[in-house]
Amino acid sequence: MPVNRKVVLKSHPQGPVRLDNFDMVTDETTPLAAGMVCVKVDCLSIDAFIRTTLDGGGFHQSAKLGGVVPALGVGTVVESADPSLAVGDIVTGPMCSQEYAVLPAGLCGKVDTSLAEPKAFLGALSIATGLTSYVGMKYVAKISGGETVVVSGAAGAVGSLAGQVAKLLGAGRVIGIAGGATKCAFLVDELGFDAAVDYKAGDVSKQLGEIAPGGVDVFWDNVGGDVLDAVLLNLAVEARVVLCGAVSQYENMADVRGPKNYLKIAERDARLLGFTIFHYPERHAEATATMAEWLASGKLIVREHVETGLENFPAAVRGLLDGGNTGKFLLKIS
Ligand SMILES: NC(=O)c1ccc[n+]([C@@H]2O[C@H](COP(=O)([O-])OP(=O)(O)OC[C@H]3O[C@@H](n4cnc5c(N)ncnc54)[C@H](OP(=O)(O)O)[C@@H]3O)[C@@H](O)[C@H]2O)c1
Repeated sequence: MPVNRKVVLKSHPQGPVRLDNFDMVTDETTPLAAGMVCVKVDCLSIDAFIRTTLDGGGFHQSAKLGGVVPALGVGTVVESADPSLAVGDIVTGPMCSQEYAVLPAGLCGKVDTSLAEPKAFLGALSIATGLTSYVGMKYVAKISGGETVVVSGAAGAVGSLAGQVAKLLGAGRVIGIAGGATKCAFLVDELGFDAAVDYKAGDVSKQLGEIAPGGVDVFWDNVGGDVLDAVLLNLAVEARVVLCGAVSQYENMADVRGPKNYLKIAERDARLLGFTIFHYPERHAEATATMAEWLASGKLIVREHVETGLENFPAAVRGLLDGGNTGKFLLKIS
């Protein structure tokens, strides 16, 4: 059996996650039971949801103390005890923070390399990134022509795609909110957003009021907290607010702060819409096909932030939460 290096959770973070909340261990992969495969992990997806798994009673699921940390990945089947997958197949699935993943074949999706290169299945074609952006914008936000759409966390993986998807679905203006002048310039100059607001450079509500004096028809929120509050002050009548995520709250899930300005929802006759991609399995095939077509035709621009080495998994999670990534954060393992 191959020797497996793993990053495991040593302790639950008390506040912001630290590098010493993790440990690196080595053991052998277990022999395969029927229905299982062993995958050599090529690349891991560093996603904001990972932070929520590090607390006991996590939002999505919890990493166990001494256990590997949940993370999506892409890799190559090196052993198979299931007829649906053969050695050499490239698959995506919940590989977790390790070099070899032994998991049920049914949890692996075979990568269709005629659609895109394998790492795209962690980005534009991943359930937690591209499919989230497409399904959320089309079926939850229900973008219609000419509307003003604001996206927070706009220079990150989901946000950078969500803004582009909104445009492709016919939004009138797309405004991104991100941290820093460089990320804001990236949104406008490279991704074709109409404008960008730097939330680190002062009053977001005031900046947004100047850029969108007619109000915000759709707000796609990845961030929560103060950013959500600022956008609520700028809602147009009958606006929709899609709660995709709240990364500003993930370091303190025991004391999540709701919006102070929620009464604007009533005042503007607006709708607050919760959204989780896992509740839309019937839309995944359409989302994959459409995102793949847009990717191949150059309509979608994808930026990746790539780091290397499993030992850098803790730093990658820390880096994502500190805004160190522009676009999709990938960790190359082998
Ligand atoms: N609903 C669903 O089904 C679903 C599925 C997937 C992901 N999501 C959500 O989508 C969001 C984005 O996830 P992702 O994996 O694509 O991560 P990401 O956007 O690539 O990375 C996180 C970004 O959040 C920003 N950020 C961190 N702390 C912040 C704070 N306190 N205030 C404002 N911005 C902050 C940073 O950018 P700056 O430099 O701009 O601060 C950072 O780059 C998350 O909320 C996640 O939970 C939801």
